[in-house]
Parts: sequence; C-alpha cells; structure tokens
Amino acid sequence: MWFGSFMIIALIAVGVWVFFQSPFMQGKSAGEINSSEQGQSILDIQPIEAGSRPTKQFELTAKETDWEIQTGESVNAWTYNGTVPGEALRVQQGDFVQVELHNELEVPVTIHWHGVILPNRMDGVPGVTQDAVEPGESFTYEFIAEDAGTYWYHSHQHSSLQVDKGLYGPLVVEGKGEKPEHDEVFILDEWAVNQDRENWTNMGGMMMGSMQGDGEADTKEMYDTFTVNGKAGDAIDPLRMEEGETARLRFVNAGYQLHRLVFPEGSMEMLAVDAEPVQNSGERNVLEIAPGERIDVLYTKGEEGEIIGETPSVENSQDMQILVLSSDSDGENLQVKAEDAATSKGTSHASKDLLFETVPDVDVSYNMDLSMGMNMGEGMTWQINDRVFPDTPPIQVEKGDIVRVDITNEGRLNHPMHLHGHRFQVEAEDGGAVVKDLINVKPGESYTIYFEADNKGEWLFHCHDNNHADRGMVTIVDYTSVFSPFELNQTNQP
Ligand code: C2O
Ligand code: CU
Repeated sequence: MWFGSFMIIALIAVGVWVFFQSPFMQGKSAGEINSSEQGQSILDIQPIEAGSRPTKQFELTAKETDWEIQTGESVNAWTYNGTVPGEALRVQQGDFVQVELHNELEVPVTIHWHGVILPNRMDGVPGVTQDAVEPGESFTYEFIAEDAGTYWYHSHQHSSLQVDKGLYGPLVVEGKGEKPEHDEVFILDEWAVNQDRENWTNMGGMMMGSMQGDGEADTKEMYDTFTVNGKAGDAIDPLRMEEGETARLRFVNAGYQLHRLVFPEGSMEMLAVDAEPVQNSGERNVLEIAPGERIDVLYTKGEEGEIIGETPSVENSQDMQILVLSSDSDGENLQVKAEDAATSKGTSHASKDLLFETVPDVDVSYNMDLSMGMNMGEGMTWQINDRVFPDTPPIQVEKGDIVRVDITNEGRLNHPMHLHGHRFQVEAEDGGAVVKDLINVKPGESYTIYFEADNKGEWLFHCHDNNHADRGMVTIVDYTSVFSPFELNQTNQP
C-alpha cells in the first residue's frame, strides 16, 4: 500500500520533471531569447491611431463547423464565421482596420495578418506578440492597411493543426482607383478527408516522405483532397465571365504543398507577388504557387469554356479546377492542357519597386541552413542551423540595420520561408530583383535575401509548411532594444 503510493508519487515526480525540461516549459519567450527584459516592451512600440482615416470594422468568430468540402461529403472544420475560407475582408488602401476576434472553440486561437506590415503586438503570434485568445475570450486587432495587395489571415496558434482545420481567410487591400471588371480571390489548400491526418505526421510517414522525390513527398502522403476556396472538384464555383473580359485573380496558397496551375495559353499575365507589383510576364501559362505565397494575375477569357487547374499529372489534380464559363454554359468536357508549358513562379519576374537599387552594404549577416534532424523519442525535426525552435539562433538586429540572410536547403523537401513584419529583396530569374515576404527554397537551392530592419519587435521567420515549423523550423528576427513580455508554453505555441 505504502509502496504503491510511493511509486505513484515517484512516477508523477518524474513526469513533472520531464515536462518542465521540455523547451516549452523552460519559460523561453522571445524576450528571453533576446537574453533579458531590457529596453522597451513590444506592447509600447508604436501607437496605432485611426486619425482621420476611414475605419473598417469586422468581427470574426472562431468556431467548429461541419463543412461540405465536396458534394455530399463534410469535414469537421474550424472556421472564422462558419465558412472555409473565413469571411473575405476587403478594405481600401489607407483604411484603419479593426477586427474583433471571438473564440468559440475549445482551444486557444489567434489571427496573424500574413504579409501585412503592422506593429509587432498585432502580429498574432502566441507566446511572442500576444497570449493566445482563450475559449470564450475576445481580442481586437488594429492596423492601418498601408499597402495595396493580396494578403491573408490565419490562426498562428498551433498553426500546423489550426490552419489545416480551416482557420484562414483572404484579406484584400484595394489600391486607390483600382476596379477591374472582375476581382476574385482563390485560396488553395489540401485536406486529409479519407485518411487520418495525424497518421501521416508520425515518423514513418514523414521519414518515407522526406526520402523521396520532388520536395513535396511528405505533404503528398499526408493529404488526399485539394480545395479551392474550401471546395473540391465539382463543388468549386465556376468563375462567370464573358469572352474577352478581364479579371484580376488573386491566388493564395494556404496549404503546405506547392501547386502549379495551368492557364489557357496566352491568357495570363502576372501582376503581383506577395502584394508587390511585378513587371508583366508575357508568355508563360503555368503559375507555380508555394505554400503561404500570394500571386495575382490578369486573366483574359478567350473562347467560351476555359479551365484553370492543377497540372494534370499531379495526383488529385481533378480536385483543383476552376471552370471559367459565361453566364449560361455548364462546362462539360473541359480539360487542363499542360503540355510543354513554361512556368512563372514567385521569383521569376522583377518587382516594379525595389527596396534596394543595388546590392546594399550590410550591417548584419546570418547564415540560415535548413536541414532535417532526429529527436530521440519525438521523431523527425526540421532545423535551422541544426537547432529546433525555440533554441534556434535568432537574427539579432537593431533598428536601421541592413540585414543579409543566406538561406541554404541541403535537405530533400521544399521549405517556403516566410518573414513576418518586413519585406525582403531577392534576385529574380529575369535578371532584376523581386520584393517578397516568402521565399520557397527547394532542395539544393540557396538564396540571399536583403531587408531593412525598420519595424521594431520580435518577428517570426519560419517555414510555411507549418508541419515543418511545428517540428522546429522557426527562428526570430530579434530587435535587441525590445523584449516580449509573453511566454511560449502549452497554451502559447506558434
Ligand atoms: Cu502565414 Cu507565420 O505565417
Ligand atoms: Cu519546410
């Protein structure tokens, strides 16, 4: 009897000890990665005031929803306002945007404004820029929509799970005087409908996935259904337009897999990448969109009945097809034609406006090596400089620094690396340079990016295959003069 209770107490003690040794319980906050609470709190950095700007207000409620993903087939989703994607937020450049988040889920959530340059405390990263919003609680996000373009929002709490379950939506900042005939957002994603997502995040699946192929093998194992605006295949609404009409089509990849959309020849020109206008691209008709990336195109409808869709050789490609039809036709027998098509991607074309006209002199350089690792008992990890977040070395900067980051991928999977709160410049394939906030680094590739540290805070820089981020591939751009009062722990996990 006595021995029995002793054993139980001993076991509990060991359990508690193990728990407190885990990185989340080391009380590591972005501030402490930055060594100590010195300088200014990120909560005090920059006032956010509407002034005389028009104010746009929205309410988003995170809740559980039975979502019909395909005709007759529903999934258990987590949504903002009951739909996947969540309510489309459209504002005008210069608006003061106010979004009240209510949480009706049983888990904490946040909203991150992907690509928007805003004050650090509005960035929605739990444990770094705020505490996650607990069930039953609310939080108000406020920012000025300074730059026109396509953005999106998503939960950044336990992102690998919460974005997968549907907690994302589009944010469009319309430029002044911009009014094309048609303007539509298409958010791409992958779902595990007929299989258990968790089965594939285990070691076996991930190991297998990471050993073979095209840099996408792990997500191809994990998900079996593709969606456009939350719907697969026949359930996708056709785009209704007449011959000769033009449309601005805004594509966002909310999934963890790269997609290549094929357009009818000669119908597409690239307009913008990650909300930055690019030089017209001309002749290519395949659009490659990395996880997390946004690409806007100008599409002109040719003859009646066209189709924009995933490259036919890809498994599940039939799920990801957008029919373009005039008001009275039904689009029987349309097929995606991909033969010998030339591809445009995020780094193909130069931006119209650059951050740096020539290669700048830098104040800070950082080598970022992306690799795969193993953690005893936990399986695979995804590492930056051989470490796993929050133990990855931060990029330490001071306001005004020009920063150079050399990113190298020596592994076998794609790593779309996304920087919060800043835009960076990287060489474009057509000879110029392109301004982005996400760079897809494929196996064997390396890129050099430059940015100006002009937005004080503690900013995430991570792989937007959130399954990789979840297993370590995250670091922080850490301004040495500020600290975060928040802590990473069980309820605050980016
Ligand atoms: Cu789409 Cu850390 O973000
Ligand atoms: Cu990755």
